[in-house]
Amino acid sequence: MFLHNAWYIAAWASEVERQLVHRTLLGEPVVLYRKRDGSAVALEDACPHRKLPLSMGILKDDLIQCGYHGLEFDCSGRCVNIPGQEKISPDARVKSYPVVERWNLLWVWMGEAGSENTDDIIEIPHYTDSHWGINRGPAMSIDCDYRYMTDNLVDPSHVSYVHKSSLGNEDSIGIPVKTREEDNSVIVSRWILNAELAPFFQPYMKFSGKADRLQHYEVRLPSSAVIKDVIAPAGSGAPEGKIHPDSFLLDSYNFVTPVSADSCRYYWFQVRNFDAQDKAVSSSLTEAFMTAFNEDVQVLEAVHSGIKNSRSELIHLQIDSGSARLRRLLNKMLSQEQPIGDRQS
Ligand code: FES
Ligand SMILES: [Fe+2]
Repeated sequence: MFLHNAWYIAAWASEVERQLVHRTLLGEPVVLYRKRDGSAVALEDACPHRKLPLSMGILKDDLIQCGYHGLEFDCSGRCVNIPGQEKISPDARVKSYPVVERWNLLWVWMGEAGSENTDDIIEIPHYTDSHWGINRGPAMSIDCDYRYMTDNLVDPSHVSYVHKSSLGNEDSIGIPVKTREEDNSVIVSRWILNAELAPFFQPYMKFSGKADRLQHYEVRLPSSAVIKDVIAPAGSGAPEGKIHPDSFLLDSYNFVTPVSADSCRYYWFQVRNFDAQDKAVSSSLTEAFMTAFNEDVQVLEAVHSGIKNSRSELIHLQIDSGSARLRRLLNKMLSQEQPIGDRQS
């Protein structure tokens, strides 16, 4: 169920300093820390002697010392010191993972050693553009299969129901979506024309009256999503590509890291074309999105346990076109991966 040949987020960059931080990614225990030069390290979090998590040990300069019998490991995962023993077997090592710091996040390559390419990490247009603002949320732990999260992130139809107190309202109910695939992405989108705006958006609008609104839900396999909102004055030509100067443009970036079959960790931030330097706007957006995403969490955790305990098959609807394509693409990519037993550590 986990695609290994991919970059996954292990932490916000600010969560890892000169201390040992444990994470589980794709069922594998990982310990993170920073070397004295500031660069980040990711190692298997299990001492090869008795499998004590190395994160329960201590950091000694750039080495980790195991908290049980003092074995020491360098940042390549090699054991360099066994107290009371001269000979160190080559088996005395832990796996080391490539790690890259980008977009204030720590990305870890969980796949085949040597096949990583940092160009595969997502590009974020406008991230460093001073005309665009940014707001970041805290990482959220969610007790559900990560695939239910990606289903949700390619499904605009839930917004009118799950988020009726925040992101959605009745104006979008039943409006059909277009679904397409591009490389390893599935995109579901629709224009909602001449609509009343949901209360969530009203404080940020630079125009009044009805709006034309684009919902663009894009999941890039295995588990990154870009959700774009374009909200423009009704009839100003936005669906034909005309961007009215008062338009609200907001790109929401969402990254889901599988933890186990029953849990995942969710990282997110938004970039926007208005009030770029206004910290109060950034905080209010973070707070508003937190509320909305907690609405998703409640539903997805209940869906997870509902499906896990179900005694009948799920039914399939037209609104599932995005998630059905996602599942098909993911299964194809999974079938092309080398089996885990054949992987080198
Ligand atoms: S368990 Fe790590 S040194 Fe024994
Ligand atoms: Fe949602």
